[in-house]
Amino acid sequence: MKALILVGGFGTRLRPLTLSVPKPLVDFANKPMILHQIEALKAIGVNEVVLAINYQPEVMLNFLKEFEAKLGIKITCSQETEPLGTAGPLALARDKLIDDSGEPFFVLNSDVISEYPLKEMIAFHKAHGGEASIMVTKVDEPSKYGVVVMDETTGQVEKFVEKPKLFVGNKINAGIYLLNPSVLDRIELRPTSIEKEVFPNIAAAKKLYAMVLPGFWMDIGQPRDYISGLTLYLDSLRKNSPSKLASGPHIVGNVIVHETAEIGEGCLIGPDVAIGPGCVVESGVRLSRCTVMRGVRIKKHSCISSSIIGWHSTVGQWARVENMTILGEDVHVCDEVYSNGGVVLPHKEIKSNIVKPEIVM
Ligand code: GDD
Ligand code: MG
Repeated sequence: MKALILVGGFGTRLRPLTLSVPKPLVDFANKPMILHQIEALKAIGVNEVVLAINYQPEVMLNFLKEFEAKLGIKITCSQETEPLGTAGPLALARDKLIDDSGEPFFVLNSDVISEYPLKEMIAFHKAHGGEASIMVTKVDEPSKYGVVVMDETTGQVEKFVEKPKLFVGNKINAGIYLLNPSVLDRIELRPTSIEKEVFPNIAAAKKLYAMVLPGFWMDIGQPRDYISGLTLYLDSLRKNSPSKLASGPHIVGNVIVHETAEIGEGCLIGPDVAIGPGCVVESGVRLSRCTVMRGVRIKKHSCISSSIIGWHSTVGQWARVENMTILGEDVHVCDEVYSNGGVVLPHKEIKSNIVKPEIVM
């Protein structure tokens, strides 16, 4: 079975992290976002993943080499010379996606996180006999997404409206599809949108079906949603593999700490924290609702909440970092500095307080 992951787009909403790596390689819960997906695909028997790419191909290709071997799955690239949107890349990769088996293939947006109930999706797809299946989930703010109106009993999609201005419903496209090869006959090789052009057509032909996704879901392509996504992800770990969570007197709620990270005396960590490989957290540090990426040093008695600390950064002693502060790669926050929502570009040194949310270039 095959799968295609849409990895194009510039990831502008996740800057400054995406100034260092393409969005799918930004770490989430201690591994690149896309690895969560590739592992889930591998687990249900997908043996080849095609990455539809239009941005920084060399970085992605280097990354692929390492994980192809580690995961035992074939990973290839289909590279666009101009961005082809969310459907055009499928036409471009046509020859890679179809073979003699006639089997359906998965298509995933690269920035969605869930328990990936892909086995259930295959069963659903086989049972309805249509051309395409999509996963949907309920959200409070449907206008940011593709909204799906469906028959609640059969799952048949009546309407698909991308980013509606007026309310049509609260079930939205979760960015996880299972498509028959015949869907490729509906897509031309040009910049085109699966949400605006392809799905509305299949829905009109009454061959598009939607399955309500069990478990949690989040598009983690924006800082606020990334941080909420971590809470949901850790919650699901608590239910499904609690042994992966850290425990001890210094831990509060759900926390993951990479085995190579060091935690000092008298820290209080959690809830909803991920600490990456090689991090050093010195004594007396307080962390909550935050992600600390590979190679970061957090010095004594600093306090970090609701923030993302990019790779190889340092946070000085007695510093306070909060309210959606996002430090890019290799940022240095000096001792005793306060950051309230600072968004800091890579390689900067922060010597004075950031008192209100702003971008520091
Ligand atoms: N190869 C390629 N080329 N990939 C692209 C391109 C392109 O030109 N443009 C976007 N992508 C990829 C992005 O990397 C992402 O994985 C996926 O297509 C969706 O793009 P986003 O920019 O993240 O779209 P969105 O979040 O606004 O909306 C989409 O996702 C929502 C769920 O998170 C839509 O599919 C909505 O319908 C959906 O609800
Ligand atoms: Mg998105």
